[in-house]
Amino acid sequence: MIKTFSSRAGRLSDTNKKFLELQSTCLIKHETKPQTKLPIVIDIGFGDAQSFTKDVVNNKNHCFIGIEPYKKGFAKAVEFYEKEKPKNLYLYNGDAREFLEAIEYKASFVRIHFPDPWPKKKHIKRRLISLSFLHLLNQKILETGKIEIITDSKTYQNHIEDVLKEQKLFKQIDNFEISYEVSTFHNKGLKKGHEIRRYVLAKA
Ligand SMILES: C[S@@+](CC[C@H](N)C(=O)[O-])C[C@H]1O[C@@H](n2cnc3c(N)ncnc32)[C@H](O)[C@@H]1O
Repeated sequence: MIKTFSSRAGRLSDTNKKFLELQSTCLIKHETKPQTKLPIVIDIGFGDAQSFTKDVVNNKNHCFIGIEPYKKGFAKAVEFYEKEKPKNLYLYNGDAREFLEAIEYKASFVRIHFPDPWPKKKHIKRRLISLSFLHLLNQKILETGKIEIITDSKTYQNHIEDVLKEQKLFKQIDNFEISYEVSTFHNKGLKKGHEIRRYVLAKA
């Protein structure tokens, strides 16, 4: 099996464990479409959930499905849900590719903010953004659907730009409807003086 997301476990506190074990109503399975009339936003890899939960609050006209395999961050998102009970949040603890492959509905938006860059050449296969992943996204978003990818990694920016040149499914546009707060990894990139690049894609 190719390992494609880092197994950062983070030490789990008792509170983390409690929210991980909870059968929260925000948990979503592949086979269940969210009960919403709002446009669906799939957020891939929300990390520690700090900025993601703010984005959920600030974008109440959109229904978010947050996907994150990292248990500590996932527990934080469940904790947020249980305290605030937002009507526009669903969560999935696992791999976004498996989730996308299994769902039988289409999302309006997909966000991938600061994906793990896997900068070493020998780890290229672990990078989430690839031609085959764009094909998968193309099947799982509406005709009017959009994707937003943001990264501060120069290597990943070059990689994304190469992948975009190789495909005809998507064109780059400017406007993406959903606002976002500066995330933990965004902040790390800014502190290191990295150039942050944002790619917004619509179907060509
Ligand atoms: C560098 S962190 C960025 C986190 C957050 N978006 C931010 O901006 O701070 C990348 C996150 O993507 C998650 N991730 C990696 N592979 C994934 C996958 N296949 N599906 C869903 N999430 C994934 C990781 O667990 C990690 O939390």
